[in-house]
Formats: sequence, structure tokens, C-alpha cells
Amino acid sequence: MDQAANLRRLVLETDKTQKKTKTIAVTSGKGGVGKTSLSVSLAIALAQNNLSVTLLDADLGLANINVILGIIPKYNLYHVIKGKKKLKEVIIEVPEGIKIIAGASGFHQLANLEQKQRMDFIKAISDLDADDYMIVDTGAGVSQNVLSFVIAADEVIVVTTPEPTAITDAYGIIKSIASQAPDKIIKLVVNRAQSVAEGKRVAQRVINIAGQFLNIKVEDLGFVFDDSNVPRSVRNQKPFMVSYPKSRASTCVAVIADKICNKTSERERGSGLTNFFKNLFVGVETDDE
Ligand SMILES: Nc1ncnc2c1ncn2[C@@H]1O[C@H](COP(=O)(O)OP(=O)(O)OP(=O)(O)O)[C@@H](O)[C@H]1O
Ligand SMILES: [Mg+2]
Repeated sequence: MDQAANLRRLVLETDKTQKKTKTIAVTSGKGGVGKTSLSVSLAIALAQNNLSVTLLDADLGLANINVILGIIPKYNLYHVIKGKKKLKEVIIEVPEGIKIIAGASGFHQLANLEQKQRMDFIKAISDLDADDYMIVDTGAGVSQNVLSFVIAADEVIVVTTPEPTAITDAYGIIKSIASQAPDKIIKLVVNRAQSVAEGKRVAQRVINIAGQFLNIKVEDLGFVFDDSNVPRSVRNQKPFMVSYPKSRASTCVAVIADKICNKTSERERGSGLTNFFKNLFVGVETDDE
């Protein structure tokens, strides 16, 4: 009896210590493709699935998650990196049901951290192991800061748009990630797709070329429609997942969140016929590119 209770306690304790936050870095080759919009909305969508999420603004040059959420944080990463605050002390809970760690906008010297500062900081992040997910919004491009965040994360989401320049830069960043971290799980989101067909075609193109020419496996995480509710919500400083929950963009992000947390989408389960007809009409879809 006592032995059984002890064993149970041991198993429970091990379980507790083994709870690890899954970190997902959101990055891109080209700037302005929608990393921050996706990071914020994805974090909210995961929280709407009853998962605990921290959103880290790791864009050390032009941090703006707090702007999208309409908050003015007192402390941010600057204070952490300068050793004035502990990471835990700068976490803010926002009404959207997520926690955020605000970035250090305007402190451009932070954009080129010393190796040791970077490592200390990444270690402090990995010590925060209480949540289900941490979404890390990074800057664009192949700087060492961006790559460090990407390499530290369990998975990386590369965001592209259908624009040829964004696609080319997506290959570039995929190649850099794979050369520094060959085992990294790389997933792709096509943002601002004009149609389902366009979203799928762009994803297939990137995935095929990464497979054929770079020998890198990239997973298709889906697409987000081009949707005027996205810039509208930025102007209103209220995320579209909350202010326009039924919008095309919100629906796409909810599907992506379901894929991430491996949950069969309510939408899929509750709309078998819709899916049936969608599948039936694949190919009839017009592609306006
Ligand atoms: N799905 C979408 N539909 C329409 N507009 C979008 C969509 N996603 C993002 N945008 C718009 O694109 C612009 C850039 O978005 P965002 O700031 O999220 O990009 P970013 O990749 O984080 O940029 P940066 O590289 O500067 O960090 C914003 O004005 C945003 O409103
Ligand atoms: Mg951004």
C-alpha cells in the first residue's frame, strides 16, 4: 500500500518535472510578411483551445507585439537583458488570455547582443517551463540573433506570402536554418493567400523545392487568407482573433492552431458535409494569380 503510494508520488513528480513548454519560433526571410500578426493570433487561438501560452517578442530591432495588443508595458526585454529585471518579472497577462514578454523596441544596440548575453537570455527562457507553448516572434532575415531564437526553439514556422520575393527569401531562411540545425522541425505558413488554391500551390512549391534542391523536409501548416480585417485590427490595436473571430483570417489561424496542438478541428468534425463539398469542388476553385 505504502509502496504503491510512493510509486504513484514518484511518477507524478517525474511527470511534473517533465512538463516542458513547446517553443515555436515564427520567422521569415523577407520582412513584413505577417510574422507578428500570425504570432499574436496563433497564441490567442492556442489559448482558446485551453492551452497556456506565452508570447515572446524577440524582434529586437522593431518590437511591436504590445502595439498590436494596445498595451504599454512598463518593463520589457531591455530590462531583462540589462540585468535590471528577471524574465518572470516582465511577463504581462493580457485580456486575450495569453501572457506576453514585450520586446525592446528602439534599443537598436540590443539587435546585436554579445554571444554570452544571448546565451544567458535563451537559458532564462528555457527555465520558464510552466506553459504549454511559447510562441516567439522574431525579426526577419538571416541575422545571428534571429537564427539563435530559431535554433533554440523546438519548431520553427517560416512565413511567406505568395510574392516571388517572399518565396525566394523563404528558401534562403530555410537553407540557413537547416545548415545550422539540420534536425529542426520546419513548418510553413503561406500568409495573404487570395484563394485556397493559391495558398496550397505556394506551399507545395516551397516544400518541393526545399525537398528537391536542399533535401530539407518542410511541413505544410496551412495558409491564411489575405483579409482586410487584419490591418483593420492592427489600426484598432485589438487582435483580429478577438475583434473579428469569424473572419477569414481568424478561421485559417484557428485551423493552424488545431494542427499545431494535434486536435481534430471542431470545424472539421462539425462540418463533414462542408468538407465533402469542398473536396468535391477542388479544382473548380479559381486562382486569381
Ligand atoms: N492575412 C493578412 N491579410 C492582410 N494583411 C495582412 C495579413 N497579415 C499581415 N497583414 C498586414 O501586413 C503588414 C505586416 O504584418 P506584420 O507586421 O505582421 O509582418 P511582420 O512579418 O511581423 O513584419 P516585420 O518583418 O516588420 O516584423 C501589416 O500591416 C498587417 O496588417
Ligand atoms: Mg514583426
